[in-house]
Amino acid sequence: MCGIIGYIGHRDALSVVIDGLKRLEYRGYDSAGVAFIEDGSVKTVRSAGRISRLEAILVESGRNAKTFSGAVIGHTRWATHGGPSEKNAHPHKSGHIVLVHNGIIENYQSLKKKLKEKGFEFASETDTEVICHLINFHSKDLSLSLEDAVRAAVAELKGAYALAIMHESEPEKIIGVKKDSPLVLGVGEGEFFISSDASAFIAHTNKALFLEDGEMVVINPEGFNVIRIAQGEPVANKKPCALPFSQGMAEKGGHKHFMLKEIHEQPRAVADTIRGRLSPGAENVNLEEFGLTGKDLEDIRKVIIVACGTSWHAGLAGKYMIEQMARVPVEVDIASEFRYREPVLKGDELFIAITQSGETADTLAALKLARKSGLKTLAITNVIGSAAAREAESVFFTRGGPEIGVASTKTFMTQMAGLYILAMAIARSRDAITPDEFKNYAQDLMELPSKIENILDRKSDMEKMAHGYFKKEHFLFLGRGMDYPVALEGALKLKEISYIHAEGYPAGEMKHGPIALIDEEMPALFLLPSKSALKEKILSNMEEVRSRSARILLVTDAEDMELGEMSNSIFIAPASNRFLGAALMAVPLQLLAYYIGVLRGCDVDQPRNLAKSVTVE
Ligand code: AGP
Repeated sequence: MCGIIGYIGHRDALSVVIDGLKRLEYRGYDSAGVAFIEDGSVKTVRSAGRISRLEAILVESGRNAKTFSGAVIGHTRWATHGGPSEKNAHPHKSGHIVLVHNGIIENYQSLKKKLKEKGFEFASETDTEVICHLINFHSKDLSLSLEDAVRAAVAELKGAYALAIMHESEPEKIIGVKKDSPLVLGVGEGEFFISSDASAFIAHTNKALFLEDGEMVVINPEGFNVIRIAQGEPVANKKPCALPFSQGMAEKGGHKHFMLKEIHEQPRAVADTIRGRLSPGAENVNLEEFGLTGKDLEDIRKVIIVACGTSWHAGLAGKYMIEQMARVPVEVDIASEFRYREPVLKGDELFIAITQSGETADTLAALKLARKSGLKTLAITNVIGSAAAREAESVFFTRGGPEIGVASTKTFMTQMAGLYILAMAIARSRDAITPDEFKNYAQDLMELPSKIENILDRKSDMEKMAHGYFKKEHFLFLGRGMDYPVALEGALKLKEISYIHAEGYPAGEMKHGPIALIDEEMPALFLLPSKSALKEKILSNMEEVRSRSARILLVTDAEDMELGEMSNSIFIAPASNRFLGAALMAVPLQLLAYYIGVLRGCDVDQPRNLAKSVTVE
């Protein structure tokens, strides 16, 4: 996820854009840049690192002392294609055209090949540069107007994009384009902003107009026109509205906390994780992007997964997915234990390090040991350019965008999606699943974002549930099969956000000790997928607990009167296959932890004693 901004108006455009980029920095901060018209030509200033570095370069070049009255656009980057560097930083230029982009272009490789054949040269590894050359191709070779060249170029793009585009010969015009990435127009007094979100301009105006997919907006000092891209016709009745939130809330997308915002980002994050890896109707995963081949996957004798915290829970779930889909044995280790247990490594295993930050010391140390022992290594990480991404031979980027809240939420969901895709790829490469089974698994995954939305639409049910339990000091989370790692994740969320002592257990383990803890002060939350082969056993586990006067919370996917009568509180999640059904159940657990933490007055974004990335052992 990146941050884009453009400005046209009566203020010093460059300082307005730099200030806006600082307010967008939580969206991505590995490089930044601005574009403006200076002495009649379009110029860009870009740098790796944070916006303060870009600011220093502008001061060094004396531009901070200049007033730029024409249009200016800016970008702060969260790398998805091409590492964090000056050459990959936006804005990107092609001839007289310059633009910034937030999103992912799925078909950029084929477009890049076509443009190279037409003589275009590429200076970066990004998908964004393709868009720039494509607009240039349409405007220069086909002598179209900028608006029509943009429309023609966008018609060839597949993927997600929010764009702000300028042309040297029209210094007081910005074109904004939106599809599957957010883009909002800020309307001030005689000034206009175009941005990824309102936090960039809320200090100047709270009047905003949200563009819809397939719309573009042409902005100049006199006003703006919203156009439907496909038809090239104006969109009637597009009026700005007054935004009901403050600057602080704007950075959180209108949510009270980053954690809640990131819980809500899960549909988009999962869609981005899938994008380009699985196309509808495909019979296999697009592997080369993450440096693996079908042969690599065919030859694997065993998979070893190593991680910490939430990432370890995702790894445990990955074990069920890979073993049940691909019939390949999987070992899962907590990273801080792995290298000290003197593991027996034969060299024909696939070693997977799962780490959102890509910087967790224990996970990195395990990854280095695996590499030294000759194992094939894959990192599943969210950060391009991270140590794990550089250390592993192959990398699967989860594309979740920055996760500011210390508690991992969209990280878990995108890691689950990534492991699911990997399990499908391993299974297909060994014919452990048929093409039809592959297509069914792929279809189930494509439906995951909307099923997460369904849960989020009913978040108030979880808020109500939280009111019934926020004073408790102990909690049990119980599940079987793949719901067991999800139970562990639910317990971790609750303990790290609300400081309640919470434990996750396999439900079948209760009678081997933990049931001694049960009394009316120990709520027990059960995860129960209706189609589970273990349903009857889970029901008897619930009965064991209920008969000792504990309060039962139930997250299930079935409207079943009997289940309602057995539990004090119930939430019905959408059903899916046994793997994604378990992943979905994590969302109500995230919401339960969030609302209980808020009710207990905890700092849910920065819980005590914790850090977002544990870079020490
Ligand atoms: C979970 O909510 C925590 N943020 C923590 O357990 C985290 O998952 C763990 O530190 C691993 O971090 P990583 O994924 O960046 O390696």
